[in-house]
Amino acid sequence: MPSNTLSVTDDRTGRTYTFPIEDGTVRAADFRRIKEKDDDFGLMLYDPAFMNTASCRSNITFIDGDRGILEYRGYPIEQLAEHCTFLEVAYLVLFGKLPNSKELDNWVFEITHHTMLHESTKTFMEGFRYDAHPMSMLISTVAALASVYPQASHVQDPDNRLLQIKRLIAKMPSIAAMSYRRSLGFPYVYPDNDLSYTENFMNMLWKMVEPKYAANPILARALEVLFILHADHEQNCSTSAMRAVGSALTSPYLCVASAASALSGPLHGGANEEVIRMLDEIPNMAAIPAYIQNVKAGKGRLMGFGHRVYKNYDPRAALIKKIADQVFGVTGPNPKLDIALELERIALQDEYFIARKLYPNVDFYSGLIYQAIGFKPEMFTVLFAIPRTVGWLAQWQEMITDPEQKITRPRQIYTGPRALKRLVPLAERDMEAAKV
Ligand code: CMC
Repeated sequence: MPSNTLSVTDDRTGRTYTFPIEDGTVRAADFRRIKEKDDDFGLMLYDPAFMNTASCRSNITFIDGDRGILEYRGYPIEQLAEHCTFLEVAYLVLFGKLPNSKELDNWVFEITHHTMLHESTKTFMEGFRYDAHPMSMLISTVAALASVYPQASHVQDPDNRLLQIKRLIAKMPSIAAMSYRRSLGFPYVYPDNDLSYTENFMNMLWKMVEPKYAANPILARALEVLFILHADHEQNCSTSAMRAVGSALTSPYLCVASAASALSGPLHGGANEEVIRMLDEIPNMAAIPAYIQNVKAGKGRLMGFGHRVYKNYDPRAALIKKIADQVFGVTGPNPKLDIALELERIALQDEYFIARKLYPNVDFYSGLIYQAIGFKPEMFTVLFAIPRTVGWLAQWQEMITDPEQKITRPRQIYTGPRALKRLVPLAERDMEAAKV
């Protein structure tokens, strides 16, 4: 009868240790029992970049990277994208169940009535240089909200947490729109409570002198679906940042600022901006094979390709490709789409990409749609951060309420000197330097 345990023999001592296997996992802390001498620290596990380490238990998002499956709370992403609004999905991700009409109405009302920003935010915005990147403005401004809401630091109080969750989800589009208008030198637009989450965002971005902003319904729905697809993605770099910073019981505004900072990097959410820059560098179809050749030769990466978890087509990329047709039906085609499609076609037939299981990820096509809708590339990662705030907050809440979680504190393998050195006084060091 096989037992659900792992037996490990330490060849240094000949001793065998047996550890339980639970959920296909062994506990790293069990390995501390493996010692050569009694006063040893015990064995550690070395896992740079957490390639094979589960840092938490989570019941929010499921990904099967080999089969290209993504689910929030047990619902396939395809169904959510087809049938739900973004705030409905936000409710699901945060509270674990789809709302009924009454719950949804209350939730939408609550979010809608927290969209206003403190007026001092305007003064704060004016402090940025005229060409500041909108992502830097978003990150700094959300961090500044920690000063507006100092009581948010009572993170162990569930009611207080819920209030900050609502505020953050409501205010991220307002801050994002403000950063956008600031970068264009346009006056700020206040939220309009008659509009849906995405329509109101579009209103704050693009309303000019008309008395009431009317969003194109196809574009508003496309943005809504893009928001749904970006709402959560389990323990990625920014979510891990959210959990790590939050584990010190830091204010959620500062946690979201940290997570958004992680997201801004070109290997993570910043990739959507880089995809457009890459497509700009490819003048025509004939230039694609040479571009791919350069990538294979190690001169840069194919941005929007590859994923740590997906070793199959990213299901979000497949859905985004479908939305592209609807959006281009309204805006006219994005001329870069043909280059992107051909790039994908060639890459998916190439041995280099096949062997490494590199497929288009969520960022490959999203930028093309954002650009067609009218966003500058600098705004793309901001558009990722708004819906991902929901996932960050759900994961933060799960972490705070998980009795197994403590402050994040990985170990290291120290590789520096251990022999005690004599400290040479500065004057002596200067004399030595003068001799050289
Ligand atoms: N273009 C060319 N080669 C690549 C690419 C790419 N986009 N991605 C990975 N590779 C190669 C890499 O050079 C390596 O080859 P080798 O084994 O010969 O050294 C192999 O594939 C494995 O790559 P890795 O860097 O070990 O994989 P990783 O899991 O550490 O990195 C990744 C994942 C997403 C950072 C990487 O695929 C990448 O840099 N992609 C481009 C940036 C990008 O699109 N990022 C968005 C990710 S999806 C949105 C999000 O959630 O953030």
